[in-house]
Amino acid sequence: MSVSRRGFLGTAIAASITAHLSAQESNPSPSSSEHQHQTDSNAHSASGKKPIMICAGNGVKYIDEAFAFLKAGGDTLDAALRVVKGPEDDPNDDSVGYGGLPNEEGIVELDACCMHGPTRRAGSVGGVRNIKNVSLVSKAVMEHTGHVMLVGEGAERFAVALGFPRENLLTERSRKIWLLWKEAHSLDDWWGPGLADPHWTAPATPTNSPQSQLWDERRQQLEQHAALIGIEPEFRQAAIRRVLVPPTGTIHCSALNEKGEMSGCTTTSGLAFKLPGRCGDSPIIGAGCYTDQDVGSAGATGSGEENIKVAGAHTIVENMRHGMSPLDAGMDALKRIVRNYNNDTNKLKFMDMTYYVLRKDGAYAGVSLWEGYSDGEKHKIVVHDGMKRSETTVALFKGSSHEFPPFPVAMPKELTEDSVYVK
Ligand code: GLY
Repeated sequence: MSVSRRGFLGTAIAASITAHLSAQESNPSPSSSEHQHQTDSNAHSASGKKPIMICAGNGVKYIDEAFAFLKAGGDTLDAALRVVKGPEDDPNDDSVGYGGLPNEEGIVELDACCMHGPTRRAGSVGGVRNIKNVSLVSKAVMEHTGHVMLVGEGAERFAVALGFPRENLLTERSRKIWLLWKEAHSLDDWWGPGLADPHWTAPATPTNSPQSQLWDERRQQLEQHAALIGIEPEFRQAAIRRVLVPPTGTIHCSALNEKGEMSGCTTTSGLAFKLPGRCGDSPIIGAGCYTDQDVGSAGATGSGEENIKVAGAHTIVENMRHGMSPLDAGMDALKRIVRNYNNDTNKLKFMDMTYYVLRKDGAYAGVSLWEGYSDGEKHKIVVHDGMKRSETTVALFKGSSHEFPPFPVAMPKELTEDSVYVK
């Protein structure tokens, strides 16, 4: 078999990316337990130049190994990529990479971006199909092209040229959830004016009672559909919950090393059941992720459309450049989202946003619009600076968001006990 120079180079590049990321570190994982360490402000100052990593909650399983790599002198972006690659590979994380919930046509489309502080470079991909590790593809765009962003088919072809394998990203589990949404819920899709439309009004609230007839009918209908589709009984309630409250799960990670170098990356399958071609904030440099070697690094998970409109990550880094603390910088970005809706909590309750903020001196903060999800789970940020811990974010508003579309208004308890979905 003849191998073209491009093919050979591509294979070699992909092999080198994979080998680099899968190389085992000699350092054992420094911590396998999770520590709660909450303070009033959640903002901390590092003493000296301590390496530190912060990420979303679904990075908790991967940050030990990544931190050991960083501490041993590994590059800051490669360390951050080691964290986000974990959920990308995990079929049970249906918010990122392989197994991510698909668009309205049942096709998984992934977004990612990265920024490398020391060389002040960036890479991004949006709406990519059939390639699992889009965070690595965004790095490849940064390193192997003269561009910053590739989207859609072009991004996929670029990834294949570099040796990334094409694979079906739709797991059976995610396909069945999509089918359930398609068959039973697609009247509440993403077509038509959204929350930002001046004429949008929340649907009338029939009752707040979980026993409402309307709710029971909807749930029974979904349960019947779920059984017909073949969704396993033990996973049925979790599947119904995803249909009723389409998630926007994502993972961001920022890293700082002993030399003061910083990088960040963000990756996602985006909003579940979105219109094909929809890109959220995650691939947008300055929205889903922004790193400035002189100042700090920030990233976002949550309502992508809202974050794009305030250029959240860039706003936060600029705020810190002008002297704000990580906490104040993040809160200011959240307030810009609130301002876009004239403080109307009837609309704001249908969105959420979490920012992960890391300043060049190691001070950090995790902030969110609401305290947590409708199931009562709090928003958390995972931190590792030699000790791994999970900390609740500082919320601008008390209470939890109501995910969109806004039906039903009440969430029965049996649908809130969700042990499978990793937020
Ligand atoms: N923040 C992820 C998304 O909206 O796509």
